[in-house]
Amino acid sequence: MKKIGILTGGGDCPGLNAVIRAVVKKSAKNNWEVIGILDGWKGLIEGNIMPLTDVNISGILPRGGTILGTSRTNPFKEKGNVDAVIKNMKKFKLDALIVIGGEDTLGVALKLHKMGVPVIGVPKTIDNDISGTDYTFGFDTAVSIVTEAIDRLHTTAESHHRIMVLEVMGRHAGWIATISGIAGGADEILIPERSFSIDAVCKNLKARHKKGKKFSIVVVSEGARPKDANQFVIQSQEKDEFGHVRLGGIGQRLAKEIQNRLGIETRFVVLGHVQRGGSPTAYDRVLATRYGIAAVEMVKDKHFGKMVALRGYKIVPVDLNESVTKLKTVDMNIYNVATTFFAKPHNE
Ligand code: F6P
Repeated sequence: MKKIGILTGGGDCPGLNAVIRAVVKKSAKNNWEVIGILDGWKGLIEGNIMPLTDVNISGILPRGGTILGTSRTNPFKEKGNVDAVIKNMKKFKLDALIVIGGEDTLGVALKLHKMGVPVIGVPKTIDNDISGTDYTFGFDTAVSIVTEAIDRLHTTAESHHRIMVLEVMGRHAGWIATISGIAGGADEILIPERSFSIDAVCKNLKARHKKGKKFSIVVVSEGARPKDANQFVIQSQEKDEFGHVRLGGIGQRLAKEIQNRLGIETRFVVLGHVQRGGSPTAYDRVLATRYGIAAVEMVKDKHFGKMVALRGYKIVPVDLNESVTKLKTVDMNIYNVATTFFAKPHNE
């Protein structure tokens, strides 16, 4: 008989509940108990938990968000909180901790592992920027939401002969912009991995309109930066416990600049948290379910300090060390698929 704790940390994403459900159901097969830790690391510091049973996880597979709640609490930020985490691991008699999170949450998991805490990581984020895995769950759902938005923007852009700028999430990696942009047929895609020249963007759009096109769609990641800018466009200077400022505003800035330079009516849309909300796609439900099951198997095999990862079709354990030290940015071969559809390439 083992007892497993599970928590969800960082920004939420569709598929978190599917992991929780799979962990509980798979553990029940082994007669293991699972407890849910509320609101990420905060819950383990404060000792806030809920029992997770076959009965109280009923119906959560298609539900977005996380029934456990989440937070961006960093136990290493305040003295005494790591001790509290370790004390509560003992108090709740946990044999293992399954941590579902992105770069920051898994970074904490790795540090705790090095201190002897038996952790297993599960990679989540709509941004798809965790190294060591081909995909994180949540990404496919975000891409389908953004693609639908691009389709909808196309019809209104076409009717009004406008340029529409769509700002999407992606702080350091432009996966959502690139993949949705390809799927939706964007005429310009701007990502954090390549700073851009507004001149070149406008030249591209001008060339397109010169050919007779009467509208354009521009997709921009929140973390994309013009070449001459030395910092992100931000919403607020205030930093979270992992040192991140809140990004946002590049879409609006870009739309204004494009309209001024080209004299074509331009509007912007910020999709924001719509990209993270709601029900996961079938792909994300299956990936999240496979991750949950593999995480329990890894507890059984004592693969602590590792993270479940998708490599091709297989779910494999990878070192947390490998996954949290470097972000997985957009593969330029894929980005270049997108640029093939621009009227003029701009990112040599
Ligand atoms: O989950 C990561 C992310 O989607 C980033 O792309 C974005 O910058 C961030 O979340 C915003 O999250 P929040 O508003 O919850 O801090």
